[in-house]
Amino acid sequence: MNKSLVKVCPSILAGDFGNLSDEAKKIEDAGADAIHFDIMDGHFVPNLTLGPKALAAVRRSCSLFLDVHIMVYSPFDYIERLVESGADRITFHMEATEDVDEVIDFIHKCDRKAGLAFRPETSFSFVPKYIDKVDLILLMTVSPGFGGQKFDKSVVDKIELTKQLIDQQKLKTQIQVDGGINLETAKTCINAGANNLVAGTYLFSLENMKKGVEDLRNLAKGS
Ligand code: DX5
Ligand code: ZN
Repeated sequence: MNKSLVKVCPSILAGDFGNLSDEAKKIEDAGADAIHFDIMDGHFVPNLTLGPKALAAVRRSCSLFLDVHIMVYSPFDYIERLVESGADRITFHMEATEDVDEVIDFIHKCDRKAGLAFRPETSFSFVPKYIDKVDLILLMTVSPGFGGQKFDKSVVDKIELTKQLIDQQKLKTQIQVDGGINLETAKTCINAGANNLVAGTYLFSLENMKKGVEDLRNLAKGS
């Protein structure tokens, strides 16, 4: 896989919420492809995080692509506000709504990229129906809700199957992985076909985030 095709999206969830704009600038200065911004509702997942107002603050502090991952029920109801707050791509969970097609269509109608996320335990059998309708498939590699969890290697098969489908249909859909991503697990995911890496705890634990972003990109070399 070509190195330039692997995108690295640091998750600001692992940053300091008291200095969100500084953290956003840090991610931008590190040369990342996007800021991954997690929104949780305390129902779909057992945690609460940031909302549209914080997203707008991040939008004002940098010009990087904003990759918004919403772990909320009724995702349709939040799309407009997220668009107004600066989201460039909105990724919602298939398990969170019965109106998956409507949500995808609405995000596209708002002229934003649409991503569809799957919990680790959700069967691959739901992926084919949507793969040509979205810009990105997010295969969660931890149970959504918290940063700092251990990578779930049972998802690797699902990455491979998704990649096969993309190749068969000659699609441009990206495969994003999120949760427990570090140099070792990223390599496993890239080898399986992932081309978009979210990493929070790992990148924020480093002295030099720029090097961390480059190291993750370089993993794709020769694989
Ligand atoms: C978890 C979030 C992730 C989280 C990943 O539900 O979706 O984006 O920030 O964090 P790490 O990289 O620490 O596993
Ligand atoms: Zn996320």
